[in-house]
Amino acid sequence: MESCVKGTLWMILALFTPPLFDCSTFCPRGCLCQSHGHFLCSDRNGRDLLQQLTVDTYTLLLDKGNMSVLSEKSLENKTLLLRLGLTNSHLHTIHPLGFHAAPQLKSIKLTNNDLSTLPARVFSPLSVVEEIYLDGNQLEIIGPDMFEGLGGLLVLDLSRNKIRDLPPDMFDGLSNLLLLNLGRNNIKKLSPTIFHTLTKLQRLRIYHNELAVLEPGIFDQLENLIVLNLHHNQIKSLPPRMFWSLEKMTELTLSYNQLKGVPHKSFYNMPKLKKLTIYSNPLLSLPDELMGHMPYITQFYLYETNLITVPGNLFANMSGLLELNLHVNEKLRYLPPDLFCCLPNLVKLSLRNNSLRDLPPNLFSTLTTLQILLLNQNKLRTLPENIFQDLTSLVTIDLRNNRLNTLPGDIFLSNTALTAVTLGDNPWRCDCAIREFLRWIRKNDNIVLDKDDVICHSPFYKLLRGLHTLPDDEFSFCDEKRTESLFLTQTVSYEPTQTTYSTSVTPTTESTTSETTTYSAMVYTSNSIQADVIPIVSPVFHEILVVEQGPEYVHHNIHKRWVYVWFLPSGSTSVGSIMFCYVLLLVVGLVLILAAMYGMHRLGTAMDKISAECAQNEEDTMLSDLVHA
Ligand SMILES: *[C@@H]1O[C@H](CO)[C@@H](O)[C@H](O)[C@H]1NC(C)=O
Ligand SMILES: *[C@@H]1O[C@H](CO)[C@@H](O)[C@H](O)[C@H]1NC(C)=O
Ligand SMILES: *[C@@H]1O[C@H](CO)[C@@H](O)[C@H](O)[C@H]1NC(C)=O
Ligand SMILES: *[C@@H]1O[C@H](CO)[C@@H](O)[C@H](O)[C@H]1NC(C)=O
Repeated sequence: MESCVKGTLWMILALFTPPLFDCSTFCPRGCLCQSHGHFLCSDRNGRDLLQQLTVDTYTLLLDKGNMSVLSEKSLENKTLLLRLGLTNSHLHTIHPLGFHAAPQLKSIKLTNNDLSTLPARVFSPLSVVEEIYLDGNQLEIIGPDMFEGLGGLLVLDLSRNKIRDLPPDMFDGLSNLLLLNLGRNNIKKLSPTIFHTLTKLQRLRIYHNELAVLEPGIFDQLENLIVLNLHHNQIKSLPPRMFWSLEKMTELTLSYNQLKGVPHKSFYNMPKLKKLTIYSNPLLSLPDELMGHMPYITQFYLYETNLITVPGNLFANMSGLLELNLHVNEKLRYLPPDLFCCLPNLVKLSLRNNSLRDLPPNLFSTLTTLQILLLNQNKLRTLPENIFQDLTSLVTIDLRNNRLNTLPGDIFLSNTALTAVTLGDNPWRCDCAIREFLRWIRKNDNIVLDKDDVICHSPFYKLLRGLHTLPDDEFSFCDEKRTESLFLTQTVSYEPTQTTYSTSVTPTTESTTSETTTYSAMVYTSNSIQADVIPIVSPVFHEILVVEQGPEYVHHNIHKRWVYVWFLPSGSTSVGSIMFCYVLLLVVGLVLILAAMYGMHRLGTAMDKISAECAQNEEDTMLSDLVHA
């Protein structure tokens, strides 16, 4: 698309711009001739074009040139040509002597063609060449002497090919190379000495390959390296001190590999580092001392790992961090108390999409510059009191999608700059404990951005009511002194995850029917209870009743909004007698059924007999009638 636009632009310019340079200079159709001898062409047949161009051509960059073969003669008579570009031109063959005619070439760009092999030593005549771009071809194998003798080479780009193997001595002699790009190939292995002569190399890119192993010492001679890209490989482990010689490094990428761990002190001795990536590795743990002094790193990401926790001093040497994203780690459950101790400039901290269950009380106590704090998508059940108290610059906080059911009313008291709070998708419990927080919500209605999603999950008669819609007087009963239960005889506790209340289980005869009933527990139910109907006896509305060491449960029923729970008296003798009665009843029933069956059988036989007799009688009468007639 871009090249298309560019091509059109050139065409237009070529057609309508009067030549600014020497009137006699020839500029072929479809080319942009910037100055004498420099041709930028597009959509031209390469062969024709090369024939048209005269000796004094310095630069020829031809895009979409439709030139499948670079022959022995293609560059003949171009003795001044310094830069040749043939891109997107379906070039699939280069004659072994293709460059013989132009040994003065300094730059060759053959990007995005169809080259699958190169003749042996095809670049050898180019003794002063500085740049070779072969990216975006189909190269699988490159001969060991392909770049031999090119001591002046500065840039070699072999990316986006299908290279599987690199001969160990392939780059020997390229002692001036500054950039080597091997990215997006199928390289599985690199010889430990392959880069040893590249002492001036500044950028080494090996991303998107299939490297599983990095040989110890492979980067040791690369003292001038600034950028090392190793992301998107299959690297399973790093040798110790892998990068210790690379003191000038500003960028190191190791993301998207198979690292389960990283050796102790791996990232020491890189004080100029500005970018370090280790995310998207199945890291199980990180060592206690990992990061050396690296004050220039301003952003750090650690996500998609299997970490359960991280060492407390992990970020201690990253004092320049402005943004820290320790998020999307499915298993991350614990954070050490002083993890963010030494980040005096931090503005954004993302801890979202982890599995955090609780936070250490002083976790954020040093982050006075923090403006954005993301804690959403975790499993937080409670927050320590005063946890946000030192975040005086906090503007945004996201607490969505946790397991919070209540918060203290003064939790945001010192966050005076706060303008955006999100609280939705939490199982808020709308009972007395949340009253103060509701007051805060009502008062800061405009700050709570998702207030329609901030809804009660319990008690169930308040289910789905928005917290900001609950008037304070619905909680006025919280003020009244709780009357002790009148009938208290036995304590019943509720599910342990909830705040424990007690209610009464009382022997009562209020309950109707059956003499076997000796206990009934009373628990308020129904969503239509009104304060004036029910006297305040005990905290109300429990969904789960757990009877500890209580009598045996028989069944329950609901009558006039009361739940009656029926029990058997445990351990008493009446259990035996009741059981006996029960068995007796069964036996009697069985006997009665058998007796009834026997009776039916007898009745049946009797009926048969009678009907047979009747038939006999009838026959007799008929016979006698006949006789009389
Ligand atoms: C490319 O060149 C070949 C011959 O060199 C010619 O047959 C073909 O039509 C050309 N294709 C385009 C798109 O110009
Ligand atoms: C190069 O120049 C020589 C002498 O001027 C000429 O004979 C030859 O045909 C030219 N080659 C090409 C490919 O133009
Ligand atoms: C921080 O870096 C210094 C020097 O690079 C090192 O001595 C120290 O051990 C590092 N601290 C941690 C916690 O790794
Ligand atoms: C974060 O969690 C939410 C909800 O569980 C999910 O929809 C979202 O895709 C997650 N984000 C990432 C980057 O995994």
